[in-house]
Amino acid sequence: MACLFGATACHVDGNSHPIQTVKIGVATYRSDDTFIAALCDDLERLSKDKEAETGKKIILNITDGKNSQSNQNDQVDNFISQSYDVICVNMVDRTVAAVIIDKAKRADIPVIFFNREPVEEDIRMWNRAYYVGTDAKESGIMQGQIILDAVQKNPEIDKNGDGKLQYVMLEGEQAHQDSLIRTEYSVKTITATGIQMEKLANDTANWQRSLGSAKMLAWLDQFGDEIEVVLSNNDDMALGAIDALKERDMLENGPVVVGVDGTMSALEAIQNGEMLGSVVNDAQIQAQAMLDIACTLADGEDPQATVQRMNGQYVRAPHRIVTQENVQEEMDYLTQTE
Ligand code: GAL
Ligand code: CA
Repeated sequence: MACLFGATACHVDGNSHPIQTVKIGVATYRSDDTFIAALCDDLERLSKDKEAETGKKIILNITDGKNSQSNQNDQVDNFISQSYDVICVNMVDRTVAAVIIDKAKRADIPVIFFNREPVEEDIRMWNRAYYVGTDAKESGIMQGQIILDAVQKNPEIDKNGDGKLQYVMLEGEQAHQDSLIRTEYSVKTITATGIQMEKLANDTANWQRSLGSAKMLAWLDQFGDEIEVVLSNNDDMALGAIDALKERDMLENGPVVVGVDGTMSALEAIQNGEMLGSVVNDAQIQAQAMLDIACTLADGEDPQATVQRMNGQYVRAPHRIVTQENVQEEMDYLTQTE
């Protein structure tokens, strides 16, 4: 039997036709991150659809960097030595992407970075390096917009009526592009309309619910009910803040809480009124883009010509605002299986 495609595994279909196998290595920065785990689930599910649509066999190998760049470098080395067709990397340290690009280029295996954005100079090093993510500025602006809309409808959010919004900011990892940009633009969007903001405290909770809760407990002890708004760079930390409010029995008449990601737990908290809103970071669009780019490359074609939203070497998924008004729609979208 002739194997027409590549040097790797060769399968046959029911009529003994060779089936092309596409081997995709996916290196995550850590697999217990809620948003990254959702994105990986989407990759698994959508790769089945892609198999049905293209007749190719897709092998997905997802590894966990456990927040160590040296672990992740080893995982990428393994993908290279096993001649994977495409490597997807969610950099632990996004400032050292050039190391990965160098290796991939030498092996001539295209690389798709996702979620943790390398600097543009690194992406420009090779025309077979790509980035799939979002526009962080847009997520910050939308988060600010949620607060603006809410204050307009309900001026009581300014609980002490001093004309300023006293807020705390829960930040993601300090070196992550999304943390810095969301922090900046959420506040700017609000103050640009003339509403004053007074920052009571800010700190990183590394995207994590338990750390978010610990920070919020400390702030509640320090500021009591002075806090009117909790801005969080993601949903997990926002949910942590809500955990803390519950623990101190301060959820009722407490501050409004907004996050980013639109995870299922956050949507539930929005539905039951615990959380004001979130900004959907669409994992499905990003997973689909990664698979589309990977399969196009495996066919030796240029993704630029066929992949939706591709702009040069970049795909950026648009965000959406989610509040109680449209939460059901977003829940339906998240649980769709086709
Ligand atoms: C962000 C997301 C966070 C976290 C982080 C990991 O885009 O909002 O929840 O998943 O990526 O890099
Ligand atoms: Ca106030």
